[in-house]
Amino acid sequence: MAQKNIVWHSHALDRAQRESANGHPALVIWFTGLSGSGKSTLAGALEQALFAQGIKTYLLDGDNVRHGLCGDLGFSEIDRQENIRRVGEVAKLMVDAGLVVLTAFISPHRAERQKIRELMEAGRFIEVYVDTPLAICEARDPKGLYKKARAGELRHFTGIDAAYEAPEQPEVHLDGSQPVGFLVEKLLFTLKSTDILPT
Ligand code: ADX
Repeated sequence: MAQKNIVWHSHALDRAQRESANGHPALVIWFTGLSGSGKSTLAGALEQALFAQGIKTYLLDGDNVRHGLCGDLGFSEIDRQENIRRVGEVAKLMVDAGLVVLTAFISPHRAERQKIRELMEAGRFIEVYVDTPLAICEARDPKGLYKKARAGELRHFTGIDAAYEAPEQPEVHLDGSQPVGFLVEKLLFTLKSTDILPT
């Protein structure tokens, strides 16, 4: 919500100039999926591949952002909304700075993801659904949190006693049970074949 008596200041150096200096468009690649679906791993591997091609990137990861910027937030519906709102605003600033921003958050609500999409200009929000069956995420259980949630020691855990709303029309839909290398190739192919990033 814009504050009263605060006026937007347009600076001389704008995103178009930064994009032209970088040689690629600025946009957000938004990974969503259950805990343990592979979002962070995939976002990290894609970032490395893009970085190696000279693309200016930054990765915002749920577990890390919750240590700092969102360290005051928990996992109630309202806190998750605020978590995603803040990340969306930060991602928007980073796009303005000319970067390809990769984000890895469960971001369980369609409405919150839609709000971020609407914050960005058309074509600058690429939603990537990491579609990994709950049974596989639970078997992976990299942090032992599913076990705790099943034991009733952790409440409001996504997929167990908190909802996850799958994207209806993501730009990219990945089968998260496939190997990481294969999925990164698929992502790179999609980004390039749709002219989102230079070939
Ligand atoms: S989000 O729902 O607000 O988008 P976010 O991606 O930031 O979540 O954080 C998810 C990570 O926090 C999970 O990968 C997991 O490690 C940890 N976590 C701790 N408690 C919960 C919970 N109740 N539900 C989901 N993830 C949790």
